[in-house]
Amino acid sequence: MLCDLQPTPVDLQSTQRSEGGLPTSPNDFFSMTVIDRILDSNSALQARFFFLAKRFVAGETIDSALDAVRRLNAEGLTATLDFLGEDVAAASEAEHTRDTYLELLAAIEREALRTNVSVKLTALGLRIDEMLCRAHLTAILARAARLPDPFVRIDMEGSALTDATLRVFEHVYTGHRNVGPVIQAYLRRSAADVERAIALGARVRLCKGAYAEPEELALQEMPAIRKSFLRLAEALIGRGVYPGIATHDPRLIEAVKGYAAGRGIGKDRFEFQLLYGVRPELQRELVSDGYNVRVYVPFGTHWAGYFYRRLTERKENALFALRSLLPG
Ligand code: FDA
Repeated sequence: MLCDLQPTPVDLQSTQRSEGGLPTSPNDFFSMTVIDRILDSNSALQARFFFLAKRFVAGETIDSALDAVRRLNAEGLTATLDFLGEDVAAASEAEHTRDTYLELLAAIEREALRTNVSVKLTALGLRIDEMLCRAHLTAILARAARLPDPFVRIDMEGSALTDATLRVFEHVYTGHRNVGPVIQAYLRRSAADVERAIALGARVRLCKGAYAEPEELALQEMPAIRKSFLRLAEALIGRGVYPGIATHDPRLIEAVKGYAAGRGIGKDRFEFQLLYGVRPELQRELVSDGYNVRVYVPFGTHWAGYFYRRLTERKENALFALRSLLPG
């Protein structure tokens, strides 16, 4: 089972805010929260510092996100757009997230762009009320269904939210097939979740996992995480429905290519997924080798935490940001 279908209360204490980056420690959490608070409480300050984040965040507005997608599409890449924000605590903020996605989907349709969207359930109110979150997600799925690429990806957050996220996914999936979850290779439960997704015929994005998790729940060492990633990727590519293989790790990318080629699995049966601004040369290389590549494009004013994670995951990213502070 991906999950047990009964709603259970979400543990508010044990999940840290993160996505698309290396595991965060409690210190990271503190720093991100402080950065978010400082920047969000002063939008002039935030706008002034956006130049630092712009390699990893497409922009603060829908228009800037659409521009980024247009550029990616011109290079043969597809995208998935993520409106940054998570852990909303007020129903009005969750509504704002839903309405922004509805506006975004209308703009994608109008501009005929090759992109779908990714959502975080805590941005749609999962921590406030699971039913409210489901209702917002259902509204997004119904609107997305009218688009040429109707797919909506549910990002996966920390382990305290895994059951609730998969429960919401399975609930909406009974009425809307244009939705799929993310499964994190570092979680010990993930082999069972992958089998469940395969049995459901659901499209999965597989990633390593970006949250600090305890040893009893998650593998801690990179070689073991890579091994798990590859095993799950093979199951999804071999028996699943068009999985998204989300990693920048050259060893895993090569292993996945080799597995598919060795079994005569066509390049059209899966896609690679990478983050906006991370290894753009690899993104183009994969496209020119004939693979489908989707770029995760985050946008919005709540970029501080996301940017912080890009800085802390690799020293090259921090150096890049520092260089942009230099004159000329
Ligand atoms: P990792 O950081 O482990 O590095 C492995 C190797 O990749 C490096 O040694 C280097 O060779 C190369 N590399 C990586 N970054 C580079 C850089 N900036 N420059 C040069 N080389 C670099 N997580 C989650 O918990 N929930 C989610 O929903 C998602 N969603 C998601 C979507 C997409 C499209 C991606 C790509 C990732 C996610 N993630 C995520 C994040 C994921 O779990 C993981 O934390 C990051 O992708 C980092 O792991 P990697 O395997 O990409 O590279």
